[in-house]
Amino acid sequence: MTPDEKKQQVAQAALEHVVEDTVIGVGTGSTANHFIDALASIKHKIEGTVASSEATAQRLKSHHIPVFELNAVAEISVYIDGADEANRHLHLTKGGGGALTREKIVAAVSKRFVCVADDSKLVDVLGKFPLPIEVIPMARSYVAREIVKLGGKPIWRENFVTDNGNEILDVHSLNIVDPVGLESELNHITGVVTNGLFARRPADLLMLGSDKGILTFD
Ligand code: A5P
Repeated sequence: MTPDEKKQQVAQAALEHVVEDTVIGVGTGSTANHFIDALASIKHKIEGTVASSEATAQRLKSHHIPVFELNAVAEISVYIDGADEANRHLHLTKGGGGALTREKIVAAVSKRFVCVADDSKLVDVLGKFPLPIEVIPMARSYVAREIVKLGGKPIWRENFVTDNGNEILDVHSLNIVDPVGLESELNHITGVVTNGLFARRPADLLMLGSDKGILTFD
């Protein structure tokens, strides 16, 4: 199977975690896009969705799936989203598509977080995939200098603006042995909006598409 076929396979399998008659959170990226397309087949079974990006909101609306503002919603039953890397503790790196902040907010609100990915995303140690950090534009250089002090190599994602009007630094050369600690440390740098580590609020279930079928970790 190609990576895209695995993404499609796992996105379809994630439908079983959709809670009927509730609002669900929907992530961003190619795996989330497959999930949205699959969700269209059962859209009458849910109340609606909260989207983690403008792109996701548009795709949901193109299927005539209701999209609510997060502030209008009291509860999200489950959040379904992809990842750039995942370890066996269900800590994730996210934000390859630049939607990390809204993704983290929706994940925080959701009762359950089901992460869906192809099996190439499973790693022993996070950090090979550059860690995205969303920064307030005027703080970009300061934040980059602080990251260098922590041993990372930040690269400015040029010509990219997040849905929140901010910029992204992609941090290379991190060997993330303490994802919970690093997530907090990075978020304490003034000017950082948030970083792409999802460790303080990890996934509750990791589903991986593979040649052997769906692999699950919880
Ligand atoms: C979007 O900002 C990211 O967090 C995505 O969830 C992540 O990059 C996974 O993307 P794919 O499903 O396209 O691999």
